[in-house]
Amino acid sequence: MANTVLVTGGAGYIGSHACVELLQAGYKVVVVDNLVNSKTESLKRVQKITGKALTFYEIDVRDKEGLADIFAKESISTVIHFAGLKAVGESCEQPLNYYHNNVYGTLVLIEVMCDANVRQLVFSSSATVYGESVHAQYSEDFPLGAINPYGRSKAMIEDILRDLSAADKLTQSNNPWKIALLRYFNPIGAHESGMIGEDPNGIPNNLMPYVSQVAIGKLAQLSVFGNDYPTRDGTGIRDYIHVVDLVKGHIKAIATLEGEKFQSGGCHAYNLGAGRGYSVLEIIETFEKVTDKKINYKFSPRRAGDLAECFANPELALKQLNWKVEKSLDDMIADAWRWQLKNPQGYS
Ligand code: NAD
Ligand code: UFG
Repeated sequence: MANTVLVTGGAGYIGSHACVELLQAGYKVVVVDNLVNSKTESLKRVQKITGKALTFYEIDVRDKEGLADIFAKESISTVIHFAGLKAVGESCEQPLNYYHNNVYGTLVLIEVMCDANVRQLVFSSSATVYGESVHAQYSEDFPLGAINPYGRSKAMIEDILRDLSAADKLTQSNNPWKIALLRYFNPIGAHESGMIGEDPNGIPNNLMPYVSQVAIGKLAQLSVFGNDYPTRDGTGIRDYIHVVDLVKGHIKAIATLEGEKFQSGGCHAYNLGAGRGYSVLEIIETFEKVTDKKINYKFSPRRAGDLAECFANPELALKQLNWKVEKSLDDMIADAWRWQLKNPQGYS
């Protein structure tokens, strides 16, 4: 029988793409999502793309009893934990909401997993857990030092999961935790069908959805935050990664957790990034080339909390997960644009 993967936050942007890859790889998929930032339409489309069914429970991961019932009903072997709030600015205004949702939500989930004896977990972490560094290319052993409540919630969860794994050695557990902490760089793009993609509420905070909405005429002008950074053209540089490449990293992570490296348990962090960065101006230029649309933009002051340059050292993921990105920036933009054109109002 196929292994069953519980996907928390599976109706969201990255989660829905993960469901497609899991179903196509032959896994059974159970999604839990409270729909705070998503719609069930994404899951309908996942099933349309794959021609396969998944099971959906509308539930908050903080609902311990409800979650325990699901573990009792479904024979879950692995959990991919996407559920959480992710807007940096909002996290500064509502820190308690972020800590409650992200940190407490994860605590409830791992308590229920303990009780159900399911100890295999892939966690959505973020490059935002790293502290500012003199090197723009980040490796997993760089010091951590998130600078906002969202990032700190991810760093706290990583600490909890590392402690959990360390405790296994002390108690000589015969069913130790196997945990992959996946630190995402900047996921963009959409499934190549154009049926699922990123559907931000209100005005987007992130560059790619903002650019797409300017191109389609929903927003008038892009503000490029800062043109005086010490980078090749003065604008911020990030490591953009196609969301389908990103979710393939999760499938590889499950295989690695089940393999020799994790035979006696463990908790390890992996960067999921391409290992090279693009500036904001390079993104605009490539977007214009790929879509044949002009992007109206102006330079604005730097956005608080932004780094000049940040990109991954992805060597560890290549070595241990046997994973690397396959898609180009042109692919990311073409797919994001197809999604935008086919769904100008998102899932609504
Ligand atoms: P998203 O908001 O599209 O998806 C998150 C999903 O979790 C949503 O469907 C939401 O309804 C659900 N959710 C939130 N709180 C919940 C709760 N308490 N119980 C049940 N469901 C809940 O976001 P995404 O971009 O798909 O991100 C997925 C994960 O990846 C998040 O944990 C995010 O922090 C992390 N991440 C995202 C990015 C990015 O740029 N998108 C970068 C780094 C890390
Ligand atoms: N930018 C603009 N104008 C905009 C939006 C963004 O110029 O309207 C610039 C930013 O200044 C930055 C780059 O585009 O230089 C990328 O910004 P995003 O907001 O798209 O992405 P961030 O790198 O700031 O953050 C993203 C996610 C975080 C995650 C982080 C991981 O939003 O949740 O990647 O590296 F933690």
